[in-house]
Amino acid sequence: GYGVGSLLKETGNVSFDPGFVNTANTRSTVTYIDGAQGILRYRGYPIEELAEHSNFLETAYLLIYGELPTREQYEDFQHRITTHTMVHEDIKMFFNGFPRSAHPMPVLSSAVSALSTFYSDSLDPFNKEHVEISTIRLLAKVPTLAAYAYKKSVGEPQLYPHNNLNYAENFLRMCFGVPAEDYEVDPVVAKTLDILFMLHADHEQNCSTSTVRLVGSSHANMFASVSAGINALYGPLHGGANEAVLAMLDQIQNRGLSADEFMEKVKNKEDGVRLMGFGHRVYKNYDPRARIIKGYAHDVLAKMGGNNELLDLAIGLEEKALADDYFVERKLYPNVDFYTGLIYKAMGFPEKMFTVLFAIGRLPGWIAQWREMIEDPETKIGRPRQLYVGEGERHYPTAN
Ligand code: ACO
Repeated sequence: GYGVGSLLKETGNVSFDPGFVNTANTRSTVTYIDGAQGILRYRGYPIEELAEHSNFLETAYLLIYGELPTREQYEDFQHRITTHTMVHEDIKMFFNGFPRSAHPMPVLSSAVSALSTFYSDSLDPFNKEHVEISTIRLLAKVPTLAAYAYKKSVGEPQLYPHNNLNYAENFLRMCFGVPAEDYEVDPVVAKTLDILFMLHADHEQNCSTSTVRLVGSSHANMFASVSAGINALYGPLHGGANEAVLAMLDQIQNRGLSADEFMEKVKNKEDGVRLMGFGHRVYKNYDPRARIIKGYAHDVLAKMGGNNELLDLAIGLEEKALADDYFVERKLYPNVDFYTGLIYKAMGFPEKMFTVLFAIGRLPGWIAQWREMIEDPETKIGRPRQLYVGEGERHYPTAN
């Protein structure tokens, strides 16, 4: 009766829908996606227009509060965020406790989780002031914590935030600056990073956002919920695809394969090889974010002396795929991850940081959706059902 795919089987009052492929868990006014046509809109605004005219913080405001800010609202928002970028000195101690080789993603989720111990007087999800200050604290402190996680991984001292820099500039300086030395942030790099953050800012009910909502549905505070979202994003099937694209390009180059030879392997499904960065569960058309990013790849790589051979290889693979029946028939197009890894690498980020950058970008979406969930009178604690397929009743063996 639902007109949906074969995965949904009705069994009494329970729908069996692994991966919630056909199940909407919520109503939402935040993000609209039309996967067939390749459309992405935040609060009704096409992503292309936001990428051209807006910036990450303004878009964060739009996602969280539902409307673009007036100039006054924007300046107030930016001011509040800028004055909360510092983290308590005690939080910095946490970073010493992790092994040097620690992946920055679990370090970040631990630090974000720990924020609720530092702000325990303002965690009530139904107190508007508490929700507001938690929103600002998260937007302000996550880049600082992310940069500290990075500094930890390269064994360098942490830098205090510089409040005269904008969001992306400040983050870049905290990552690549050195104490007591001036660090000139390249405007092209900062602008590109800002746009990449914006393109990742929300994507409706993806795995990490659904996690944030599910955890928050128990009335867990915003820090606890967002920390869980970061852990969901840590998984290679969600946040790790851009790392995989880069590994694939490296491998093609190292093995001396041509684009054609590699494509043959993909089409023959040799060893399960896939063209990483292609295909998407929802988009069955060109991912609009990939189109925007592609435009920036050349600029940044030229500026940063990135690996142009890998970019040319990527462009060559894309051209071949778009003209190939295998990909056309299966509606496989480049997704957001196809070009991001190359850009992040050219900026100087190691592969481990790619998902951390994704987390900074996705933060406004997690916050917007957490707030929408808390405000929606129809929200219930998330509590899926199951199909029990285990043993029937049996009895504990007793000796007699
Ligand atoms: N390369 C080659 N073939 C592919 C690819 C690919 N990247 N993606 C899908 N296919 C083929 C499958 O082999 C399958 O072919 P078949 O019908 O002959 O068996 C068909 O296309 C459908 O594939 P599914 O896996 O059923 O599609 P689904 O929607 O479940 O998967 C996914 C989407 C996981 C993204 C898939 O396209 C993929 O693995 N892509 C590569 C990994 C990647 O880039 N992931 C990033 C996703 S975006 C993000 O997380 C932000």
